Amino acid sequence: MNVIETPEKSAATKPLVVVSSRTGNTRTVAYAVRDALPGAELVAAEAMPESLSQYDPVILGFWCDCGRAPADMKRAAAKLAGKRVACFATLGGEPDTPRAKDWMMRTSSDLIGDDRGNVLAGTFLCRGRIDPKLSQSMPVTPERAQRWSAAETHPNRMDLIAAAAYFAERFARSTSGSATETA
Ligand SMILES: Cc1cc2nc3c(=O)[nH]c(=O)nc-3n(C[C@H](O)[C@H](O)[C@H](O)COP(=O)(O)O)c2cc1C
Repeated sequence: MNVIETPEKSAATKPLVVVSSRTGNTRTVAYAVRDALPGAELVAAEAMPESLSQYDPVILGFWCDCGRAPADMKRAAAKLAGKRVACFATLGGEPDTPRAKDWMMRTSSDLIGDDRGNVLAGTFLCRGRIDPKLSQSMPVTPERAQRWSAAETHPNRMDLIAAAAYFAERFARSTSGSATETA
């Protein structure tokens, strides 16, 4: 059955995916997330729209830059107020460790802030191939070589499927206006 929504309702429920990506890993995940959410738009962090009134949720995608969120994502996130915000990130290290999960939670919380009325509605983390230029500029310890090699094939097909499923579960049904938010 086709459902005709009022313009106001459609405009109020469009997800926005905002991405920072230096070598393309996070952008690849961002496309999968956008495609999983009906009506979603995808923009680069430095091109975030001035007015965000028609967007909810806002989904921030970024990469681990020396243990921090990249500067363009920090600038974009600082403009968010009163939004449901979800985050995803890629990093070179192992994502399923307490350290990586803690990093993701701290970094996401810092991005949404605690005084702008934003609510953290989900986080997703996966591995991303490390820029060969970075690996060439650092001494190769056995641990590093193992880490770089393990990251080489990511994000892979399973990462993209997992990211799409994660955000669809949280938001896809709520954008149709017919189901409740599950986050
Ligand atoms: C300058 C730089 C710093 C990085 N710092 C870290 C880090 O501290 N920890 C980590 O796990 N990965 C680190 N990485 C790896 C990236 O987070 C990872 O390759 C990511 O997938 C890159 O995303 P992108 O392709 O979207 O730019 C770093 C990569 C670069 C280029």
